[in-house]
Amino acid sequence: MVEATPFAARARNEKREQAERMGIDPAFISAMVENFYARVRADSLLGPIFEQRIADWPHHLGRMKAFWASVLHQSGGYSGNPMIKHVAIPAIARREFAHWLGLFDETLAEIEVDPRATSLIAGRARMIAESLLNAIHIHRDGINDPMKLKGALHAG
Ligand code: HEM
Repeated sequence: MVEATPFAARARNEKREQAERMGIDPAFISAMVENFYARVRADSLLGPIFEQRIADWPHHLGRMKAFWASVLHQSGGYSGNPMIKHVAIPAIARREFAHWLGLFDETLAEIEVDPRATSLIAGRARMIAESLLNAIHIHRDGINDPMKLKGALHAG
């Protein structure tokens, strides 16, 4: 990867080292993705949504490992557009995202090596879920009132 500045490279390395000190290494990310999607595939709410759209599971899991390495290690190894992909799925809204996060928390609890890692990753997942859900509300459902978007995942 071409670094913009030496500072950017240093910040990226520090981020990765910090994560690795909490046990978030490539083996952990791989186990997290495998455990989570096994759970998703067995789930009666989310399983069918994925099965309809994913033909090549090893490929999807590989992309998800690259995605999480980019999020947690700033690896820069993922390129894609998750927003567009999720906006294109008609069946998903707040309930499905809340359920997704519940399954993700179960995975994190099962594979936990360090509670700091669990809360870091759970926090990132929530931020990303929130922004995907906002994109869905705006681009798919046509809602552009910020008051209606606020806290969409937490509203009753
Ligand atoms: C209700 C919740 C969700 C459902 C049902 C769902 C379902 C899917 C499906 C079916 C795909 C494949 C789309 C395609 O290849 O056309 C996909 C891709 C993806 N999902 Fe989700 N998703 C959900 C939430 C999330 C969340 C919360 C995250 C991140 C924290 C996430 C991250 C991704 C990423 C990064 C991709 C793209 C992978 C690529 O570039 O090929 N998803 N999702």
